[in-house]
Amino acid sequence: MLAVAVLAAGKGTRMKSDLPKVLQPLAGATLVERVLASCRHLLPQRQLLIVGHQAQRVERSLSSVPGLEFVLQQPQNGTGHAVQQLLEPLSGFQGELLVLNGDVPLLRPGTLEELLAKHRSSGAAVTLLTARLADPAGYGRVFADEQGLVSGIVEHRDCSEEQRRNSLTNAGIYCFDWAKLAAVLPLLSTENDQGELYLTDTVAMLSPAVHLEVADPDEINGINDRLQLAQCEAVLQERLRRHWMAEGVSFTDPASCTLSEGTRFGRDVLVEPQCHFRGATQIGNGCRIGPGCLIENSSLADGVEVLHSVLRDSTVATDCVVGPYAQLRNGAHLEAGCRIGNFVEVKNSRLEAGVKANHLSYLGDADLGANVNVGAGTITANFDGVHKHRTVIGAGSKTGANSVLVAPITLGAEVTVAAGSTLTQNVPDGALAFGRARQVVKERRQTSNPAS
Ligand code: UD1
Ligand code: CA
Repeated sequence: MLAVAVLAAGKGTRMKSDLPKVLQPLAGATLVERVLASCRHLLPQRQLLIVGHQAQRVERSLSSVPGLEFVLQQPQNGTGHAVQQLLEPLSGFQGELLVLNGDVPLLRPGTLEELLAKHRSSGAAVTLLTARLADPAGYGRVFADEQGLVSGIVEHRDCSEEQRRNSLTNAGIYCFDWAKLAAVLPLLSTENDQGELYLTDTVAMLSPAVHLEVADPDEINGINDRLQLAQCEAVLQERLRRHWMAEGVSFTDPASCTLSEGTRFGRDVLVEPQCHFRGATQIGNGCRIGPGCLIENSSLADGVEVLHSVLRDSTVATDCVVGPYAQLRNGAHLEAGCRIGNFVEVKNSRLEAGVKANHLSYLGDADLGANVNVGAGTITANFDGVHKHRTVIGAGSKTGANSVLVAPITLGAEVTVAAGSTLTQNVPDGALAFGRARQVVKERRQTSNPAS
């Protein structure tokens, strides 16, 4: 039997944030979501999250995680005190307890598998994850002999100068035999620099204690401040870009682009510099994105080109061209082969195949039939000050430059709207609609000749 406990009760003082540390975002997921995800594949029988600082907020953010038990630690008197809170909920539990720090978000799932396997094969009372860090400042130091037997952990601030020279670092990730840990938890004391109960002190009380050293020290990066948050973001971004390059995506300037965990790419995608992909975003085969795009929670089919544009919560079918300087948002839906050009905004609108809106337009709450040609400066006036209304334009219609369509309004198929029109009434199929003042030209008058 396996139980997992994630320590997430701390305030994260060093972040200087109103947000609890474990809710800080990293590549689109919070720290604690990442930690929970890193152990999900181990299929633990119990999953417990220790909450304390802003407990309700942390609980709310994870309310949809199935089977997660929240355990309150009040006040927060250290990592050992946090795990003491499990004595009651896990009383009678038989098996291993995997303890994860809620602020160590870069663990690879395979590493936890290895940790568990080593723990089981070695028969240890505790197996902890370690790494050799070039700069271990701030981390606990692990003292182990050549056979890998651990005698204890000393926190950085409690170390002597000599002890600090030991670069074997505690990751804050442990696999315990629960019954053995439960027996020593009550023995912890607060005799340390912070006057807290340290989980790390249990290691010297348990025997045998062994460790698993990870090859990639980035995996155990802990986040205590904004600098470490940014460093972890950089590591994650690099992992994501490498992953997608291996899957057939080209980046001309990889370091200038950011991805989310939920971004998916097809093959032969070209990503030019300064492109950012967020949320659940899907990019089809052969797309060409950038330079300069932000694409969030959107789905692009094959062969789409986007240049210097912002797309949010939108879908784009095959072979559309978007930009430069276009914005699609809030349920913009383009069918195949649409062309959305410069300074065009499309919101909550459905554009059927082959629609062209090349310049300076706002299409909001509109339904456009196939091959509609939207003239430069066409505006759907969708808001009457209180409500939003829809504009419907039938297939094959054309709007002249600077047309204003005051919604609710329906134009039939093959309608032509004269340039400069403001239309407030429906127009039937095939009609030509003018909605503007007739031009008046007054020729220059003959000036009277005072001499005659
Ligand atoms: C801890 C370890 C240190 C290790 C490092 C790895 C201890 C005493 N030290 O130090 O050896 O190298 O992690 O990153 O464990 N928390 C609670 N309740 C509390 C205090 C903390 O739930 O009362 C949670 C925090 O929310 C956090 C985690 O425990 O997620 C670690 O706490 P933190 O204060 O960051 O420990 P470190 O000083 O980083
Ligand atoms: Ca920490």
